[in-house]
Amino acid sequence: MKILNFGSLNIDYVYQVEHFVQAGETISSTRRETFPGGKGLNQSVALSRSGSEVYHAGGIGKYDGQFLKELLRDSNVNTDFVQEMDCPTGHAIIQVNSKGNNCILLFGGANVQLDKLYIDEVFKNFDEGDYLVLQNEVNNLDYIVKSAHKKKMVIFLNPSPFNSVITDLNLDMVDCFLLNEIEAQSMCGIETDDIDKLIEEMKRKFPKAKFVLTLGKDGVCYFDDKNMYRHGIYDVEVVDTTAAGDTFSGYFISSISKNLCVEESLKIASIASSMAVSKSGAAVSIPLLKEVENSNLRLIK
Ligand code: RIB
Repeated sequence: MKILNFGSLNIDYVYQVEHFVQAGETISSTRRETFPGGKGLNQSVALSRSGSEVYHAGGIGKYDGQFLKELLRDSNVNTDFVQEMDCPTGHAIIQVNSKGNNCILLFGGANVQLDKLYIDEVFKNFDEGDYLVLQNEVNNLDYIVKSAHKKKMVIFLNPSPFNSVITDLNLDMVDCFLLNEIEAQSMCGIETDDIDKLIEEMKRKFPKAKFVLTLGKDGVCYFDDKNMYRHGIYDVEVVDTTAAGDTFSGYFISSISKNLCVEESLKIASIASSMAVSKSGAAVSIPLLKEVENSNLRLIK
């Protein structure tokens, strides 16, 4: 079984600010750093650092994106399918406030220049039972999902950032969704604080799918048509939440692919993402499996 991640590769420009800039306001940042990022790249790094063999597909600009490919390579991700293009690499402008929370502005660049011929070439290397990992920062997502479904691959979708591209997909082709409450509400077309109601609605709408729903300070839950498991959060000092969700997704999918049970997979992924929030940056904050296994973080709920 192979894991293919078709996803974004971004240059993250991270600005440390006291508070997020408001409409009409001009503020100064106290620091600017440049990091490798992109939900796709982060998830591939997390998959690999948790011990899985992963192939990354996506696009970078040939003049400004080489360091992203190098970071993937250094993290043992296979980059044979990373396309180098004659356009700028995608980037993200990220504000991180004094509480460690972020807000992100994206520029698609090479991430949104993937054509069908290239996608077909990549899929020639994958077969029934292989995993496909997806987020929503590349173009032709619909075509990618349909191609994987035709091949009977197992499709994991993190519907982030959520927009009409997601609602226009045939979501019945997705085997497992990894998402937060807001994305779940958007997918179901309801607004509610009642998590049980949200879960029932997701099960009703997508009866064959599995779900991993992150609940912020209430931890995470997994559910499908028969099972439900929950896991709490760990006590860490929050420095930067960027890539916490990506770390969780990569670690969870990797653990499941190694046939670990759902409870253990939730635990490992939760520890890994807690460790990621205690460091600055996206991909560079993702821990190695050894560090996760040796961590002595305290479960608080
Ligand atoms: O999930 C975090 C990522 O979102 C950042 O690395 C940024 O590039 C955006 O894609």
